[in-house]
Amino acid sequence: MGEPIAIIGAGITGLAAAMVLSLDHKVTIIARDHPGDLGLAWASPWAGAIYHPQKDASASEQKMQRASFQYYWNLAHREDSSKSGVLILPMTEYFDDWTDEQSIWYRDLMPNYQILNKSELPENCTSGVKYASISMNPVLLLPYLMQKLEVRGVKFVRKEVMSYEEVRHLTGTRIVVNASGVGAKALGDLSVKPIRGQTMFVKTKFNELVMREGSEYTYVIPRAGSGGVIMGGIKSDRMDAEVDVELKSDILRRVNRITNNAFDEIDLETVSDIVAFRPGRDGGLRVERNGDVVHAYGAAGAGYIYSFGVAARVQELIEQTRARL
Ligand SMILES: Cc1cc2nc3c(=O)[nH]c(=O)nc-3n(C[C@H](O)[C@H](O)[C@H](O)COP(=O)(O)OP(=O)(O)OC[C@H]3O[C@@H](n4cnc5c(N)ncnc54)[C@H](O)[C@@H]3O)c2cc1C
Ligand SMILES: *[C@@H]1O[C@H](CO)[C@@H](O)[C@H](O)[C@H]1NC(C)=O
Ligand SMILES: *[C@@H]1O[C@H](CO)[C@@H](O)[C@H](O)[C@H]1NC(C)=O
Repeated sequence: MGEPIAIIGAGITGLAAAMVLSLDHKVTIIARDHPGDLGLAWASPWAGAIYHPQKDASASEQKMQRASFQYYWNLAHREDSSKSGVLILPMTEYFDDWTDEQSIWYRDLMPNYQILNKSELPENCTSGVKYASISMNPVLLLPYLMQKLEVRGVKFVRKEVMSYEEVRHLTGTRIVVNASGVGAKALGDLSVKPIRGQTMFVKTKFNELVMREGSEYTYVIPRAGSGGVIMGGIKSDRMDAEVDVELKSDILRRVNRITNNAFDEIDLETVSDIVAFRPGRDGGLRVERNGDVVHAYGAAGAGYIYSFGVAARVQELIEQTRARL
């Protein structure tokens, strides 16, 4: 057993880090918000969430995305999606500003990767690909991971902490992983920026992932065990949590364009609205060790896509130094 470790945050980043680190360490998670909680102070319960590889990623970011994909792919094969919320589905991805689908880095990662014929593209799209991908329902996945961790002896403490000294004092651990998402701002990093998202949950039997990137950022994400899909999306600097009603019909119009009008009959009065904030950061995702603090935040709209890869990197950063001691 390695030395004990404390993790700030019980969102997907903190939980994934705990899943990896608790194999070799006694782990304590300290978090203001826990799986099962709602509220807008954290991002994880509100994600779609789709495993949608991030096109413009550095080599190390690609490596993290690959590791994360492998984790969810394996989980989908060993656990029923009604328990884990993790489901493999066919995915179609359209681009309206880009045509380089031959050289995209994830063509060898995503199973059944195929380039679409131009005749199959929606109006105004320039290219498209198809592959198998993964949908994650946070409402099931977060409590599922928490329960696995508790069985392993990981301790969950509900507390808002203001400094690393406070964490060290509370837990007695030297190493602290900072997976505090948007909350990282309060802990001193002013480059952290919440990015507003608005989506809606629609009851339907539609069962494929569809996404459009470029000038019309739009997606449909079936959710395991929910009987419906999440559709979106929008990114904006707006900071209020009011539902934008015009945006709802705009999203629906855009979704119909990429699904051959599969949602022609939807009554927007009957859908559930979601407004939430992604933990963005100037300079992007930060996974870095600074003394005894390991930072793991700033995943913006891709926290699930990066989660288990970030966790593996956090582990590397911790074990490297241990080997040197
Ligand atoms: C509408 C929407 C759609 C999205 N869709 C996707 C998607 O399809 N795919 C995808 O990969 N991602 C998606 N995301 C992004 C994803 O939700 C986030 O990237 C991810 O949840 C970030 O997880 P996190 O654990 O880093 O942070 P969070 O989920 O914000 O968790 C932070 C944790 O830290 C705790 N904390 C913060 N400050 C303190 C403190 N001072 N003391 C103690 N605890 C503290 C919080 O209580 C919480 O437990 C979406 C987000 C939104 C809003
Ligand atoms: C594209 O068209 C070719 C020739 O018509 C066909 O063989 C191929 O299967 C098509 N590709 C897809 C992804 O449908
Ligand atoms: C396609 O683009 C043209 C020109 O920008 C626009 O007028 C038209 O409405 C678009 N069609 C769709 C279906 O988005």
